[in-house]
Amino acid sequence: MNILVTGGAGYIGSHTSVSLLEAGHNIIIADNFSNSKPEAIENIKKITKRDLIFYEIDVTNEKSVDEIFSKHKIDGVIHFAGFKAVGESVSKPLEYYYNNLVSTIVLSKACLKYKVNKFVFSSSATVYGDNKVPFLEDMELLPTTNPYGETKAISERILTDTAKANPDFAVSILRYFNPVGAHHSGLIGESPRGIPNNLMPYITKVAKGELEKLRVFGNDYPTIDGTGVRDYIHVMDLAEGHVAAIEKLDKGVHIYNLGTGRGTSVLQLVEAFEKVNGIKIPYEIVQRRPGDIAECYADASKAKKELGWTAKRNIEDMVRDAWRFEKGV
Ligand code: UD1
Repeated sequence: MNILVTGGAGYIGSHTSVSLLEAGHNIIIADNFSNSKPEAIENIKKITKRDLIFYEIDVTNEKSVDEIFSKHKIDGVIHFAGFKAVGESVSKPLEYYYNNLVSTIVLSKACLKYKVNKFVFSSSATVYGDNKVPFLEDMELLPTTNPYGETKAISERILTDTAKANPDFAVSILRYFNPVGAHHSGLIGESPRGIPNNLMPYITKVAKGELEKLRVFGNDYPTIDGTGVRDYIHVMDLAEGHVAAIEKLDKGVHIYNLGTGRGTSVLQLVEAFEKVNGIKIPYEIVQRRPGDIAECYADASKAKKELGWTAKRNIEDMVRDAWRFEKGV
């Protein structure tokens, strides 16, 4: 297939681009480098030894998007491009709603106009809110605590309504749990700007000596050791989930959890990192972070049953590959 990948230079987009090329698909990447770097494009080519088409555009721009659709025969779209910093979304709600919703609308409109009938959307487990674990695709969604989370929930509704009104338009909504790690080459990975908000990139910065110590947000949750439990998933497993989703995509709306189905606490993740990489991670326990939930992990059986996909890599692979990328090979 010829697949348009928006946000293909970003963290999950770049890994998925590698998996798509390796599976034999052709890709067109559209990215404005708002939270990524041009090197990612070069490194995708280097890893796969394949070429790709690249457009530096903003996917909220209808004219630029139309140009791509009019120039190329596109079979499907995987839409990653979007803002994703939870804290920032609280202070800049309009930027988040505009960017994340308009991009979804513009791309859906172009799909209908050019009869592109496959759309895969990057959603997040955040849409489950504080439901009971494990999270299941048909659970009622609960409000998220921030505009970022709301943009994911609203985009899901926009795509669902569009598919209802246009029976040929097939949509796959992928709810990611906590993607971590990097491609084993160490050439692409997660490089957040400034001080990382998420746990794994924070740990790798501490390991590198760029940050003094990890602050563990609360140890009084009702979990195995009191710290927050999440379903960490290796980014290459997540990438392969997208390939399965677009290859199997058929009419209608399909929602899949992409997670491992296993929960790991903050302290368990720190311990695994220390053991596998032989580096001590100093930490202190501080107050809970507002908006955090105690536990979040997937019931990942639907993706296994319908897509034939399961996560293959374990926590040891995740901490090893995250560190390999951060330290540079
Ligand atoms: C966060 C977002 C979520 C988003 C996801 C994207 C929040 C509240 N949620 O999920 O909406 O989809 O990122 O990857 O930001 N932790 C520490 N110290 C740190 C950082 C994190 O103890 O410096 C703990 C957290 O309390 C949590 C766990 O580590 O228990 C994971 O946190 P994080 O990596 O930020 O992911 P989520 O909060 O699950």
